[in-house]
Amino acid sequence: MIEARAPAKIIILGEHFVVHGSHALAASIDRYITVTASYHSSDVLIASGKAVKAEHIFNSVDKITRGRHVKLIVKSQVPNGAGLGSSAALSIASTIAVSKLFDVKPDPSLLFDISMEAEKYIHRNPSGVDVAASLYGGFVLFKRGELRIIKAQPIRFLVVDSRQRRITGNLVSRVKEFMEHNPELFASLVSVSDLMSIKGAQAIENGNVEQVGSYMNVTQHFLELIGVSTPKIKSIIEYLNGKVFGAKLTGAGGGGCVIAIPRIGNGLKSGYMVKAGVDGAYKINYGKQLEPSTAADDVA
Ligand code: MEV
Repeated sequence: MIEARAPAKIIILGEHFVVHGSHALAASIDRYITVTASYHSSDVLIASGKAVKAEHIFNSVDKITRGRHVKLIVKSQVPNGAGLGSSAALSIASTIAVSKLFDVKPDPSLLFDISMEAEKYIHRNPSGVDVAASLYGGFVLFKRGELRIIKAQPIRFLVVDSRQRRITGNLVSRVKEFMEHNPELFASLVSVSDLMSIKGAQAIENGNVEQVGSYMNVTQHFLELIGVSTPKIKSIIEYLNGKVFGAKLTGAGGGGCVIAIPRIGNGLKSGYMVKAGVDGAYKINYGKQLEPSTAADDVA
């Protein structure tokens, strides 16, 4: 039996706009999906003790398994449909687990491509930011075909789960509709979001969490405007007001999780703390930190 692990992610700035060409700033977090792989007579994926449909995983890992069958057992610390990148972490952990089982060492670009294939099946038009954050780890400034790893110490984020579950692909389609009805406004939002992600990455590098928090607050307003926030998300953010440097939904929205950077000593009782900027799946499983230049080449 062979095991592999991949971290979940948060998007700090730039979700949805990244689908339309801007940068996003994301980070791996210390919540993991672990997959155990073994030889089997047919393809089976077991999660929470039950066999579940996972054709997209088996179809994409076929580049490694080449028609040989496997049993995958999933252990998860990441809620599904909550904006924390569970699907990307599952496909990366599954791909690495089967690679180890068949004694293949895929280079990072192949791991990226296989996981993107699984993501496409679920989200139709993924930007790749979830896969990049989970695979490369740390803080990533991501744009389609471009990746920079930001060198910075991990940062603690508060995560509050609205417990509203949703499907990323539906929200991405909703945003596309907004864009079609408001092309000029949307183009401006994409451009400001792009700049805030780049500036946010610099602020992370400089340890200026207050600045990151302000960009998060502005981003939340943008996300409300394009129709992916909910009254529940808004009420969580209102509750956090004054206790955090910034708060926003993370990932596709329509529910899911709120992330916030707490002020020291605020006595917050809601949610749970995560460490953002931890090692990515590649380092966890192969013991090698990917360097920024390698990473940029790999995703391009
Ligand atoms: C989902 O975690 C992030 C989105 O921007 C979709 C994507 O980038 O593929 C909503």
